[in-house]
Amino acid sequence: MDTGLNLRPIHEVIADALVVVVFEDQRPDIPAAKEWIAEVYDSGEFKGEKQQRVTLHRPPGMKARRLVLAGAGKRSEFDPAAVRRFAGTLVRAMKSPAIKRIALIVEESAKRADAVTAAVEGALLGVYEPDRYRTDPKKDECRLESFAVVAPGGNSALEEAATRGRILGESQNLARDLANEPSNRLTPTALAQRAVEVAAAHGLKYEVLDRDRMRQLGMGALLGVAQGSAEPPALIVMHYTPEGGGGGSERLGLVGKGVTFDTGGISLKPSDKMDHMRWDMCGAAAVIGAMDAIAQLKPSIPVTALIPAVENMPGSRAQRPGDVVTTLSGKTVEVLNTDAEGRLILADALTYARRLGCTHLVDAATLTGAIVVALGNVFTGAFSNNAELLDKVMAAAEAEGEKFWRMPLTEDYKEQLKSPFADLPNIGTRAGGAITAAWFLKEFAEETPWVHLDIAGTAWVEEAKPFVAKGATGVCVRAFANLATGW
Ligand code: BES
Ligand code: MN
Ligand code: ZN
Repeated sequence: MDTGLNLRPIHEVIADALVVVVFEDQRPDIPAAKEWIAEVYDSGEFKGEKQQRVTLHRPPGMKARRLVLAGAGKRSEFDPAAVRRFAGTLVRAMKSPAIKRIALIVEESAKRADAVTAAVEGALLGVYEPDRYRTDPKKDECRLESFAVVAPGGNSALEEAATRGRILGESQNLARDLANEPSNRLTPTALAQRAVEVAAAHGLKYEVLDRDRMRQLGMGALLGVAQGSAEPPALIVMHYTPEGGGGGSERLGLVGKGVTFDTGGISLKPSDKMDHMRWDMCGAAAVIGAMDAIAQLKPSIPVTALIPAVENMPGSRAQRPGDVVTTLSGKTVEVLNTDAEGRLILADALTYARRLGCTHLVDAATLTGAIVVALGNVFTGAFSNNAELLDKVMAAAEAEGEKFWRMPLTEDYKEQLKSPFADLPNIGTRAGGAITAAWFLKEFAEETPWVHLDIAGTAWVEEAKPFVAKGATGVCVRAFANLATGW
């Protein structure tokens, strides 16, 4: 879908639907449609409440085919997050073979760059459907071709805002696309291939480490998880370097859990909802999506992405509960539960990130069911060993309308990670499961400032919402991109 600004005066905007955002406390002032507007208000049909919409066909004196008043509720509540949801809801609700081009008048807000960005993002996120493998020929009939924000005259700040919205929306949809791929089609090898395509498209340097290379380096934890599957593992590395090299000594490392399917391994999961485990690579998808955005937004900090990609299967070569593996860091781990595989692969990826010179680390992982118990499907859990970096990540998420919640990571919880057979076990007790998982990772981040984001509850939605389809959400893409551009 094309997105951007439409710079024409309102009566000259060409569109199938010219949509006016209307707040509860104000009647829109559109001279050409004055009588109609008086009628819909006087009849009580329309008050500007959320989700309300009325349509005038062939508005006199205007080039648009339809004039639509769309209720947006209270003006004071119309922040960028609300604009994003509004635009998403709008494009989903207006789906029709007759409407291919939508132009949106955000009224005064159109003068606000952040509202323009959010509107474009919301529209892109709203039109996305995870229907790639449906062969129904009718499915494309209602596909929207263009979405424009009306800004007569325009200016360069608004142009930039629209471009940023397009980049972030498209990159987030790229992450959703990757994440929604079924596991028979998106193996670790295929995931690496897709990452390489993204890197190549934007001229990013990249490298994919195979099993032999992992053996040479000594990535025993990553290899242990991979050994139960016929699909070979891959460790994907991508580098973004700012023009001129960036100069400074800092390098941001983004690490994403890429378990293309998590059966649990020998500690097999129950079959109920096991299909959800195709989404166990949403952390990886977020990092790839973020790199796609970062390559285009060109922040001044260098960024390295690391994605350990594996399939966790209970094959005849699979690791067993009780096995002891030696991680890249040299620390040994007693694998008490093969279903706690995410932390194992992330352990080696975090160590490797430090070796590659990352000075700040942020990981995203669908790591624990426990975080879903704690925060539901609303907030991503944020854990850290460094208050300053955590503040930065929280601020970046907030600016992008992503909900992150600070979780504790004090010494108290470390007690649980003791093993008589190795340096540490890969699980604690049931109590505080998301926190002990984070503690395990912390042992591998060591002294490097690090933030861990447990996205198990926020990486996908089980039911479609008015503004977004069912499936992967692309959580963390905008937050990561903002973290880099705002650094
Ligand atoms: N991928 C799962 C976590 C998960 C569960 C994500 C449900 C989304 C929904 C992870 O690999 C896992 O299996 N974690 C275990 C850890 C346990 C064995 C300590 C869990 O949360 O049950
Ligand atoms: Mn698991
Ligand atoms: Zn998992």
